[in-house]
Amino acid sequence: MMNGIPEMKIALLGAGTVGGGVYQILQWQKDEMPKKLGVSVNISKILVRDTKKEREGIDSSLFTDNWEEIVNDPKIQIVVEVLGGIEPARTYILEALRAGKHVVTANKDLLAEYGKELLDTAQEYGCDLMFEASVAGGIPIIRPLKQCLAANHITEVMGIVNGTTNYILTRMTVDKMEFSDALALATELGYAEADPTADVEGHDAGRKVAIMASIAFNSRVTFDDVYMEGITKITAADIAYAAELNTVIKLLGVARNTQDGIEVGVYPMLIPKDHPLASVNDSFNAVFVHGDAVDDAMFLGRGAGKLPTGSAVAGDIFEIARNIQAGCTGKIHCTCYKSLRVKPIDETGNRYFLRLQVEDRPGVLAGIASVFANNHVSIAQVIQKNKYGEFAELVVITDHVLERHFKDSLLVLKEMSMIKEISTVLRVYG
Ligand code: NAP
Ligand code: HSE
Repeated sequence: MMNGIPEMKIALLGAGTVGGGVYQILQWQKDEMPKKLGVSVNISKILVRDTKKEREGIDSSLFTDNWEEIVNDPKIQIVVEVLGGIEPARTYILEALRAGKHVVTANKDLLAEYGKELLDTAQEYGCDLMFEASVAGGIPIIRPLKQCLAANHITEVMGIVNGTTNYILTRMTVDKMEFSDALALATELGYAEADPTADVEGHDAGRKVAIMASIAFNSRVTFDDVYMEGITKITAADIAYAAELNTVIKLLGVARNTQDGIEVGVYPMLIPKDHPLASVNDSFNAVFVHGDAVDDAMFLGRGAGKLPTGSAVAGDIFEIARNIQAGCTGKIHCTCYKSLRVKPIDETGNRYFLRLQVEDRPGVLAGIASVFANNHVSIAQVIQKNKYGEFAELVVITDHVLERHFKDSLLVLKEMSMIKEISTVLRVYG
């Protein structure tokens, strides 16, 4: 009890971007919490590496660099992991659960690899483990998939789940920038990290799509199952062709639940300008879900940042506080009760965009067409506009074909002397 109001003690592991946001939001909510939750949620300890470091707005008397002080404190009921990385975060979460503490985490790296272990441990100890912020920051998507859409058979989850790459592609589309210039701008504005590899190579989105697919299809999908391609090879020329085809290029995390298994990947894709995801620009994220009952639904918002991510973490803390009050913690366990096969990328199907530089002479188009025909690839459209010297640039759009057949065609095309260069290969939605 504090001033006559029941108190719930929690600990933060980490006081960086997200930890600072959670701290601030809990301050803002101080007066409302007792009315909203019937309890006042108070941070009693914050684990950091450097307890002497000044962190603006945060009460430094709460800092500790000793995990034992938190895990062994029986008064702490909820542990909020916002450290990042695999270790020591994994060990701390497991130890907290085994000590009967409920856990909130924003850690996609951990969930995408060790989700089963963490959720099984939470179930074993009757604890809540919530991770709304691990996918698309402030956008509610985990709870909607687990709860609000639980009565659906979900066949597709597809999203723009990385703000840095969406910002870069938006600048390339709207301002006609090349990739390197757009990346430099994203770095200058603080969207891209000092090492942007995880964002631009699709690894960050890969972790998020693994988590979403597991929940949407009730079957475990891990980071290793996700096929990933990044955006580093996209050029202003590709963006211009996409526009001509009435499409835009977006880095999408795509998960489909098909008759013969789950397809899951992250890759840049041409999507029609009238698709709801096409107009999601700058650093915004969005997730598009198709279920047999709900039909199409889309979730849009801020996928990162101190307060948006803090909002999702604080929402999880509030949910657990309510569950503790109502005596119903641990009610939603791991929902992966199926063991669906994840298809290798070669077994998936798509339409493809191929930009290539070829000799400009009779018979070249026929030669290319025959390679596709011999490999069961049907051509939907060919664009030839730019000629330079003895060469011309061709863009071929295929019909919906098996990835394996398309790749077999590429292997043959690469060996043909009439083809100077295969410049770009992209997937096309629909
Ligand atoms: P961050 O700014 O780097 O903060 C990490 C905090 O954890 C720092 O306070 C650091 O302490 C502390 N820490 C790290 N390792 C520690 C250890 N071994 N022992 C004690 N303290 C340790 O990271 P962040 O951006 O807040 O991200 C946190 C988590 O949220 C990550 O899992 C990330 O993927 C996820 N997330 C972040 C965002 C976002 O917008 N940033 C969005 C969605 C999800 P010191 O200050 O002493 O170094
Ligand atoms: N780096 C991520 C992004 C945010 O650019 O969306 C953290 O998941």
